[in-house]
Amino acid sequence: MPDLNVIPQEHKINRSDRQKLLGHRSFVIWFTGLSGSGKSTLANLLEQNLHSKGILTCILDGDNIRNGLNKDLGFSENDRIENIRRLGELCRLFTDAGVVVLTAFISPFRSDRSCVRELMGKDFHEVYVKCPLDVCESRDVKGLYSKARNGSISNFTGIDSPYEEPVDPELTIDTSSMTIEESAEVLDKYITKLLIKDRT
Ligand code: ADX
Repeated sequence: MPDLNVIPQEHKINRSDRQKLLGHRSFVIWFTGLSGSGKSTLANLLEQNLHSKGILTCILDGDNIRNGLNKDLGFSENDRIENIRRLGELCRLFTDAGVVVLTAFISPFRSDRSCVRELMGKDFHEVYVKCPLDVCESRDVKGLYSKARNGSISNFTGIDSPYEEPVDPELTIDTSSMTIEESAEVLDKYITKLLIKDRT
């Protein structure tokens, strides 16, 4: 790395001041899973629930981020690595701002998720949104699986690009066998414990 003469700055108001102001701790709920597994649906459900309890939240969603901040990235292995690296840094900025961050990225590579875990420490909570490929494909909400099958999209996760399942996630939600209500309940239980444990 070249010496850029860049010196990190300390500010007068820090994360803990912001958390006190808001009355709750900040952390990241990192949903990972195949396209169509239900990451965004669960993140939205959870956000509504937390919002109604007065918790400041933000959803970072693959499709949205790729329309803005990460517009320059595609779906090659290197671009996906860079996608998740930037998102890890975003998570750090948002949690520094006191926000409970809910992410919905495929994040197919274990090593990238581990990097974010390392960056965020105990504030990183991985939720594996488990759903067999054939079920995701049959849902095909965005019509992308059929495009991947007919060859008009390449490097599509699950078809011609790998998805590495989490080894030891904090939570696994199987959206092919659980109802939305059951999934919401599991999430609610987990987060409630987290909020009580983390209450400042
Ligand atoms: S990631 O693999 O780099 O984590 P990310 O979550 O940001 O992916 O974006 C995934 C979204 O991009 C999918 O939900 C889908 O709508 C869209 N997409 C377009 N092309 C692809 C592709 N080749 N593989 C996976 N998702 C794709």
